[in-house]
Amino acid sequence: MFSNKTITSLEKSSWIRAMFEEGNKLRELYGAENVYDFSLGNPDVEPPKAVKDAIRDISNSKEKGMHKYMSNGGYESTKKAVANMMSKEYNIKIPSSNICMVTGAAAGINVTLKSLLNDLEEVIIFKPFFAEYLFYISHANGVPVIVDTKKDTFTIDLENFAKAITKKTKAIIINSPNNPTGVVYCEEDLIKMAIIVKEKEEEFNTNIFIISDEPYTKIVFGNIKVPIMMKIFEKTISINSYSKSLSLPGERIGYITVSPLLPNNQLLMSAILFNNRTLGFVNAPAIQQRIVEKCINELIDPSIYEERRDLLYNHLISLGFSCQKPDGAFYLFMKSPEEDEVNFVKQAQKFNILLVPGRGFGQPGYVRLSYCISKDIIKRALPSFTKLAKLYK
Ligand SMILES: Cc1ncc(COP(=O)(O)O)c(C=O)c1O
Repeated sequence: MFSNKTITSLEKSSWIRAMFEEGNKLRELYGAENVYDFSLGNPDVEPPKAVKDAIRDISNSKEKGMHKYMSNGGYESTKKAVANMMSKEYNIKIPSSNICMVTGAAAGINVTLKSLLNDLEEVIIFKPFFAEYLFYISHANGVPVIVDTKKDTFTIDLENFAKAITKKTKAIIINSPNNPTGVVYCEEDLIKMAIIVKEKEEEFNTNIFIISDEPYTKIVFGNIKVPIMMKIFEKTISINSYSKSLSLPGERIGYITVSPLLPNNQLLMSAILFNNRTLGFVNAPAIQQRIVEKCINELIDPSIYEERRDLLYNHLISLGFSCQKPDGAFYLFMKSPEEDEVNFVKQAQKFNILLVPGRGFGQPGYVRLSYCISKDIIKRALPSFTKLAKLYK
């Protein structure tokens, strides 16, 4: 009766939804303060004060015409501010004509895939992956090709990567820092990947594009530097978002940047603007664009997440759980102490701890913990983790 493709997708994306419903049940039974919900990647950190002030000031502005349609790529002044900031950060001259403001990274990836793919062309993603990629690729009539990363470290396995590239490969999605592992890919591996991509392009006489999904690049810990994809790969489209860096996920604002080094980049920009319009986004929200422009150098304090990571990671390791220490984002991807991680998730629920099974990210045997919850709740959850660990002694 309805779209078979969509109904099948509903069934495949049921994990996060199931956790959400389970959380609501537990909150009703025990009270919200007694449920330790590590399932949602929804930042609880407030946006910086300057952003909140800008929201108020811009909303109260008496300027006429502030709420009208604009060019599909966004306000020229906003794109210029973004392009200048990116040029400085990346040390590459990026013109504003290579920027398209979008309603978050999700929209940016959909618009980009739609602009790149012909039917049944392949898109490489690395396992574990942000589950929505499967649906974004499907919307663009592409085929996902899932590549295993290295066991336990979740870094790129170059051999697996090289084997996965075929004459149908059109794009590779790279997400670093990564959701769900928090891993930041090192420059050395990325440079080797770029060499492999060049060789395969020559072998198959094709063009392979890198879609760098970058919502977490500013949420990194210690001295970690995230390598700049545009400097490593010639054909890069980077997708950025303010959902995490300014804690504005509900406001839907981000941007696509097409590398000026990408051959024929203005034609790709035209395709991106067309798809931003015709997929129904039309343009990124007017007020949000003005806020971003005004707050171009603002950032939430990543040390808030770093403290939480340390608290949670150190406790889990002390209990004997095994987990790669994340260098960024706000997720921990922990090995389940039993093979069937869904059962482990059920055991955790008995202690009011909500986790997401790794199979929701294509990687059974692991669970994801999101530390988008206050330090206080994490502290209160620690004894429950201790009790949970005892079940497996
Ligand atoms: C890896 C990754 N990509 C994209 C998105 C979508 O972000 P946005 O809110 O900017 O659409 C998310 C959101 O959690 C994410 O984790």
